[in-house]
Amino acid sequence: MHTKPNAPVLDSYWMPFTANRQFKAAPRLLESAEGMHYTATDGRKILDGTAGLWCVNAGHGRRQIAAAVERQLTTLDYAPSFQMGHPIAFDFAERLAEIAPGGPDNRLDRVFFTGSGSESVDTALKIAIAHQRAIGQGTRTRLIGRERGYHGVGFGGISVGGLVNNRRVFPQLAGSDHLRHTHDLARNAYVKGQPEHGAELADDLERLVALHGAETIAACIVEPVAGSTGVLVPPKGYLDRLRAICDRHGILLIFDEVITGFGRLGAGFATDYFGVRPDIVTTAKGLTNGAIPMGAVFTSRAVHDALMHGPESQIELFHGYTYSGHPAACAAGLATLEIYRDEGLFTRAAELETAWHDTLHSLKGLPHIVDIRTIGLIAGIELASRDGAVGARAYDVFVDCFQKGLLIRVTGDIIAFSPPLIIEKEQIGEIVSVLGDALKRAL
Ligand SMILES: Cc1ncc(COP(=O)(O)O)c(C=O)c1O
Repeated sequence: MHTKPNAPVLDSYWMPFTANRQFKAAPRLLESAEGMHYTATDGRKILDGTAGLWCVNAGHGRRQIAAAVERQLTTLDYAPSFQMGHPIAFDFAERLAEIAPGGPDNRLDRVFFTGSGSESVDTALKIAIAHQRAIGQGTRTRLIGRERGYHGVGFGGISVGGLVNNRRVFPQLAGSDHLRHTHDLARNAYVKGQPEHGAELADDLERLVALHGAETIAACIVEPVAGSTGVLVPPKGYLDRLRAICDRHGILLIFDEVITGFGRLGAGFATDYFGVRPDIVTTAKGLTNGAIPMGAVFTSRAVHDALMHGPESQIELFHGYTYSGHPAACAAGLATLEIYRDEGLFTRAAELETAWHDTLHSLKGLPHIVDIRTIGLIAGIELASRDGAVGARAYDVFVDCFQKGLLIRVTGDIIAFSPPLIIEKEQIGEIVSVLGDALKRAL
């Protein structure tokens, strides 16, 4: 299919999470990016309200990252990482260990590299099960997730995930089960930061222990703030309560920080922002500013060290990827960490938080909005759905905003914002103004 001279042929690329036929009939193509903006193929500048897909935390076109990747590719393009090593992977892990989630005295400073968020999740779940077995708890293979959780698209991730469209077609890991989600508009609408109500929902884990037996449960995984399912902020006290229940029953707690990691909430990690320390943290996205695909799983020393037993010639964890610790990805990651440090980006969301809250919440009262929720540099704006057409209204708003020069993200009828952390206050105003006008036009 040709759209216009010099336009790319769109037929062969089977696009992910996309209505392929609808898209190819009216494509939206981004050609370049710099700072807070994309440029579309028709030359229009598009303000990036979503940091790509929650990943370009330091903004686009960072030359420092590009230069580091080029240097690395011309020095060592690839090296195997099974029974072999290359210095930059060790360097990157050491730098990450210095800022790892968990606070100065208790960091989760053992780092396993992956290629994506989905791989980080499946890696974390496997580490949890392997750890339990290593400490003599081999009956613990069950994995607990949460309704409306998103943990990527691997079979492990969809098993603990809670999005029906990602699950209904595919089989899942036997024995996985779910907590209820914490979204409660009746009690918690229009909240800035953490909602008051719902900590007791963590007790669902007690119910699952009573149902299945603690000795069958390896781990419980949650997103500290659920992003892809429409920005669900944990109620006050909820994560602490989950931690306490896990401790009581020997269950490992995994925080999926694929979107909250690397400054999104105004601290390095949600673990530090909420002051609740899990046993394992999954990351990706902001790890390399989105420039090169990569993920990292952080574990406590206790989780790691329990597997460092037995004969030294033995491989302790039969798991890994061809691209674990890829040299170019490590180079991108090291350069990204320097930018985060030099520009103070881990605390930038905290500095902007009041302006972010107030500007986003000024949309209250506009047509279709039933909730606005904000935390760190994240916002969720929930719209009433059209009868019998969930998601149609938000999709129209998404297309309208794109035409007017703003990239937003929609999931069902919820609009999510997660701009690069370099955003300026005027640009927050621009987001709200373009979105407000689109909402007034929306049917
Ligand atoms: C919380 C969470 N976990 C896992 C993933 C999957 O990451 P990826 O798309 O890199 O596999 C995502 C992606 O949005 C995510 O938000």
